[in-house]
Amino acid sequence: MEIGIVGASGAVGQEIIRLLEERNLPVKRICFFGSKRSQGITLSFRGEKIPIQTLSPRAFQGLDVVFFSAGSDVSKTYVNIARQEGALVIDNSSAFRQDPHTPLVIPEVNPEALEHHDGLICNPNCVVILLLTVLFPLHQVAKLKRIVLSTYQAASGAGWQAMQELQQETLAFLENRPHERKVIPYPYAFNLFLHNSPMASDQYVEEEVKIIAETRKILSEPKLGIAVTCVRVPVLRAHAESVNAEFHESISAQKAQEILLQAPGVTFLENSFAMPRDVAGQENVFCSRVREDLSQPNTLDLWIVGDQLLKGAALNAVQILETIKKTKKDPEPILSTL
Ligand SMILES: NC(=O)c1ccc[n+]([C@@H]2O[C@H](COP(=O)([O-])OP(=O)(O)OC[C@H]3O[C@@H](n4cnc5c(N)ncnc54)[C@H](OP(=O)(O)O)[C@@H]3O)[C@@H](O)[C@H]2O)c1
Repeated sequence: MEIGIVGASGAVGQEIIRLLEERNLPVKRICFFGSKRSQGITLSFRGEKIPIQTLSPRAFQGLDVVFFSAGSDVSKTYVNIARQEGALVIDNSSAFRQDPHTPLVIPEVNPEALEHHDGLICNPNCVVILLLTVLFPLHQVAKLKRIVLSTYQAASGAGWQAMQELQQETLAFLENRPHERKVIPYPYAFNLFLHNSPMASDQYVEEEVKIIAETRKILSEPKLGIAVTCVRVPVLRAHAESVNAEFHESISAQKAQEILLQAPGVTFLENSFAMPRDVAGQENVFCSRVREDLSQPNTLDLWIVGDQLLKGAALNAVQILETIKKTKKDPEPILSTL
């Protein structure tokens, strides 16, 4: 396969490169793309130095698969150009996730959605991937009725510059030095704040709106009740989620634990609880503290932690490609209508 990565120098792009190096995909040629900031920079792939190119309408010629990981504006401008050149696009941004004709896929949850695509597949929001990797096997048994979710989101969810900002601001805070913020609009060291995506509507930030819409789309449950509050925390890597999940059918904590011990992509911790620093760099989503909610029937509390740069982004995107490769000999995107 000839593969392109748009946003190769970014937090997610770097993980896609590493996963492609390590996993068993036949990569014949790889191209890296970035903004003007990366002109003259090379990145290594399996020992070879490869320059980062700037994007242009002819950039995708000959590529079979292009991973987009450079934000919605770049995707809106270039995804359809890559599709027209015949590439299968796997997009990490939110630009096309709500398009009814575009699959939004977590391979452990809705791989069947990959059967019909028009050269574009979207990777869901990172919080949603972690949440549904754990809740879907329970949903299959007891059918979800309502989810109450609070997130504890790491700096890396906002890209490599936010990670740097957290480190630099923490040092400055401890040394009692002033620090000029460039990425995150609130004091970050030793602090918490509402997720820093723009306010969308009805007092919900865009991240919260995305989580509701994407969860419903992936589960094909347009009326599923979801209450969500997203919070950014001073953690470098790996998001955590506190979940209260109500089901239509009765499900005990014991039964849920048995299911989660077998669930693909899930590590269930029976006697300890998951922490972001332990989970950073791990491919599985960790789940612990599964308890019956004593205030309401058919309801469980869960604590979920996952490396959102991996399963929440790069790994899920690579798994989408692996799933397509398994079910078809070659990715065959090409489109008739754009
Ligand atoms: N971080 C996460 O946990 C996460 C999870 C799920 C989805 N996502 C999505 O993945 C995407 C990338 O996120 P990230 O965290 O990796 O961000 P990041 O660390 O800030 O990296 C952004 C990347 O985009 C590239 N880029 C920016 N403007 C560009 C342009 N005009 N043309 C070409 N390349 C451009 C940058 O290249 P230069 O360095 O050359 O400027 C850089 O490689 C975003 O759409 C994000 O919403 C992120």
